[in-house]
Amino acid sequence: MKLVFLGPPGAGKGTLAVRAVEALKVPHISTGNIFREAIAARIPLGKRIAALIGSGGLVDDEATITLVRERLAKSDTAAGYILDGFPRTIPQADALEKFSTLDKVVNFDIPDATVLERLTGRRVCRNCGFNWHATFNPPSKAGVCDKCGGEVFIREDDKPEAILKRLDVYRIQTAPLIGYYRAKGILIDIDARPSVEEIFAEFKKAVGK
Ligand code: AP5
Repeated sequence: MKLVFLGPPGAGKGTLAVRAVEALKVPHISTGNIFREAIAARIPLGKRIAALIGSGGLVDDEATITLVRERLAKSDTAAGYILDGFPRTIPQADALEKFSTLDKVVNFDIPDATVLERLTGRRVCRNCGFNWHATFNPPSKAGVCDKCGGEVFIREDDKPEAILKRLDVYRIQTAPLIGYYRAKGILIDIDARPSVEEIFAEFKKAVGK
């Protein structure tokens, strides 16, 4: 099954994707994770990407599209994939249509106040990437990941000014994709406010798993 996870920052796309890939046996492809790995690997463009992401802006369409096209050409996507955070603009969606055919687009519906609560409390493991939350799901020892013992940190783009910019960017550049995919008849709306367990149950029902 070929799925896109669409929604504002902090909607819980990455958290649900971790469970969904186990159920569907397909890879989780997160453009945000790919960019963060590229920055950590100190690739030549890493500094520019880090500055863009840290300020809450988007990486340019051309570079992002090339990266996703190459990733989807790998053999592990033969049975499908979950694309998390791509497409994020209409040009990205138009490009994706030329190299892959989606089954469904899952739209995570969530108010800004909940996004702010989730992102200001998010804590990420530098080693395994697990998303903790200072209030809703804290690691048992502050700053240390229960899963792998890695260091738990706050993402640069989870600072309040960057969160507000990301929400603006989402409204202007990404939200139009809701209408784009609704018109194609492949959009599923999911209420992203309940617990992860409830959202996962609704997701499985919606995709017939
Ligand atoms: P990316 O990493 O994709 O960021 P995002 O889309 O803003 O999404 P987030 O990772 O912030 O949130 P999420 O929805 O995954 O929520 P999460 O599950 O972590 O992209 C980062 C940047 O890369 C972009 O800003 C951009 O610069 C660049 N980029 C990426 N893709 C691009 C593209 N296509 N084009 C151009 N640039 C691109 O959950 C958040 C918190 O809430 C966690 O702490 C979690 O534990 C908690 N939580 C989750 N669900 C629940 C729940 N149900 N109840 C309570 N708490 C919950």
